[in-house]
Amino acid sequence: MNSLSTLLRITSIKTETVDTKSFTLETVDGKPLVYKPGQFLTLLFKHSNGDEVRRSYSISSSTTLEEPLTITIKKIPNGEFSRKMVDQAREGNLLNSIGAAGLFTLPDSYPAHQRFCFLAAGSGITPIFAQIKSILYGSANRVILIYSNRSASSTIFLDEILQLKDQFKDQLMLELLFSESAILTQSRLTQGVLDQLAQKHALYKDDDTLFYLCGPSAYMRMINIKLRAEGISPESIKKELFLVEAPTHKLAEPPDTDRHSVTIYYNNRSFTIEVQYPESILATAKKQGEQLPYSCETGQCGTCAAICTSGKVWMRYNEVLGKKALTDGYILTCTGYPIDGPVTLKL
Ligand SMILES: Cc1cc2nc3c(=O)[nH]c(=O)nc-3n(C[C@H](O)[C@H](O)[C@H](O)COP(=O)(O)OP(=O)(O)OC[C@H]3O[C@@H](n4cnc5c(N)ncnc54)[C@H](O)[C@@H]3O)c2cc1C
Ligand code: FES
Repeated sequence: MNSLSTLLRITSIKTETVDTKSFTLETVDGKPLVYKPGQFLTLLFKHSNGDEVRRSYSISSSTTLEEPLTITIKKIPNGEFSRKMVDQAREGNLLNSIGAAGLFTLPDSYPAHQRFCFLAAGSGITPIFAQIKSILYGSANRVILIYSNRSASSTIFLDEILQLKDQFKDQLMLELLFSESAILTQSRLTQGVLDQLAQKHALYKDDDTLFYLCGPSAYMRMINIKLRAEGISPESIKKELFLVEAPTHKLAEPPDTDRHSVTIYYNNRSFTIEVQYPESILATAKKQGEQLPYSCETGQCGTCAAICTSGKVWMRYNEVLGKKALTDGYILTCTGYPIDGPVTLKL
């Protein structure tokens, strides 16, 4: 076990759909695992050759409701660990995790007029389900959920969402889209269908709406392009990508490829490493046996985010840190390189 990891026990398993299960977890040491709605757990698995691999799973439980920690996993055809979890995991099994992380979270506080529009497809509902429950039970803010699936039977949390709609009639606006539906406006989410829904809920006209997107890359790309074209600012659009894909374009080199020292404060200790391009800060730390949090290693999940307290870090790729996080000094160690001198980071 990694010295920074937490051992979790599966306490119950619930079948959600034919290929999706929810796993309720408890920490073996009894210490509560701290997380925010929208964050994910990164689990550590082992390949048959002994190599460690990491997979992230969004947390579907809500702290506002004091629900037990739960993740929801959809089996990917030919997916190594999602299949193992859905087909083989049993109550009492132990899982290794580096804890919760992620920036796909709700604002720390928000005014009463703030509206939230969630667009989810398939298992993309997982972090959004936690967020919606937290908003509905914790405030009177309005929530719009546009949720796309193939059919009702493949819709994760369908019954729970319909119950929420019943309970929070005036607060939750629900639009369920099933691609099998013969009615075009209730089928696939196209730009035209989005326009109709936007008109119905006055989505484009209103600066008080925050958008949260989670689903397949093409689905999220279409929505993001459409929202941006309608004048929604990038700061009002939050995205969570489940499928980590290698960037298709050639990545740039840092403007300064010299060796620089990086001092890292993490987990009540500090250490200094010498980082030299092409190795990133994370890659150098790993090589020297230092344990830092990470998952995708490609600038797409946010698990490795750190605050740069002195010096400059240049990032080769960043799909997760928005303008606000960058202004607050956040950087990604997996795609980050020190430039122009020494750097200090705090995780
Ligand atoms: C931040 C984050 C949060 C996530 N939250 C969840 C969650 O709540 N629930 C959940 O079920 N999954 C979630 N995932 C996806 C999860 O981490 C794994 O990628 C997924 O379970 C596949 O792992 P695997 O080992 O089974 O597949 P692998 O053996 O890694 O991959 C097998 C094949 O499937 C493709 N593939 C991998 N992931 C996906 C995907 N998500 N959709 C389509 N094809 C894929 C791969 O490209 C590859 O071709 C999340 C991912 C991230 C980065
Ligand atoms: S490990 Fe995912 S962004 Fe760095």
